[in-house]
Amino acid sequence: MTRADTATKHAADVSAMFDEVSPRYDLINDVLTVGNDRLWRIATTRAIAPRKGMRILDLAAGTGTSSAALTAQGAHVVAADFSRGMLEEGRRRHAGNDLIEFVQADATALPFEDDSFDAATISYGLRNVADPRAALAEMRRVVKPGGRVVIAEFSTPPSAIVRGPYAFYGRHVLPRIAGVINRDAAEAYRYLNESIEAWPQQAELAAWLREAGFERVAYRNLTFGIVALHRGFVPHRPAPVESPAKQPAAKKEPAAAKKPAAANKPAAAKKPAAAKKPAAKKEPAAAKQPAVAKQPAAANKPAAAAQPAADPSAGSKPKPADPAHTSGDGRPEPSTGDTQ
Ligand SMILES: C[S@@+](CC[C@H](N)C(=O)[O-])C[C@H]1O[C@@H](n2cnc3c(N)ncnc32)[C@H](O)[C@@H]1O
Repeated sequence: MTRADTATKHAADVSAMFDEVSPRYDLINDVLTVGNDRLWRIATTRAIAPRKGMRILDLAAGTGTSSAALTAQGAHVVAADFSRGMLEEGRRRHAGNDLIEFVQADATALPFEDDSFDAATISYGLRNVADPRAALAEMRRVVKPGGRVVIAEFSTPPSAIVRGPYAFYGRHVLPRIAGVINRDAAEAYRYLNESIEAWPQQAELAAWLREAGFERVAYRNLTFGIVALHRGFVPHRPAPVESPAKQPAAKKEPAAAKKPAAANKPAAAKKPAAAKKPAAKKEPAAAKQPAVAKQPAAANKPAAAAQPAADPSAGSKPKPADPAHTSGDGRPEPSTGDTQ
């Protein structure tokens, strides 16, 4: 059984590890989280607020369990992952769902155009990416201005009363249970626990999101903070301002009034040409390439919500996810107590 190194998280090792656990991945998740993974997925889906016609990127989508929930309202979901085994399992399971498109891709070098998605999400995947900040930058790049990102990830329970038993469960119980279901999986689930322990706490991940250029960043704890749901929005571009001094009425031409969207993009959002090159291969199923519609700037939209989903390697304590809070625009908002 391949066991990735928590310190390096080499792509080949992480990918091979998930290839091997793919057939029983979802079953193990259900067992290890005592079904809480399903509640976390509901919370995550609400936070993304998928609607018919939306194009959503589900990054590190694995077998597409999180992707399927997003299609329920008619959204089109690109389920991207670099593990062939997970993708194959996903294609098999969701063969009848035309709204999911499985694509082999590395989260740190996405084969998608700028501004090609209405929203992006990653459930229990960011922790496994060798360079998570690069993945955040990629999500920022491919989501349209005003669009949101939602991250569901294992986190750190703020209460020491929860942290102690949870750490014991992760270190000693979780790998044993996983090993009973799939003998080869025990090592993978030891990696899971180590990667959770090494993962930054809620506030630090929120800071990473801000550093990546997201605005209105907030997070919400689920199940005592065993899982945290982070969200952020891609800023709208400033509307082009016409200066009367620079553009006298006599010389005003229609074309000059409209700046190309690309010119409006903040420098931070621009990606070097080399970085836009997808390192990962697109598989046959990925036939549909996103049309790239660059959007002009507009006034900021009201914040949307963040809420969680579950992970495979999840070793967690079952507790119902908090109900979504609603903001002025009817979308779920993170609970104020956990929001930054
Ligand atoms: C724990 S699974 C989560 C799968 C799914 N999102 C879910 O909620 O069940 C983590 C996934 O991240 C994928 N992954 C890890 N690093 C990746 C990377 N750099 N690019 C793409 N996928 C990656 C793995 O292949 C694996 O399928």
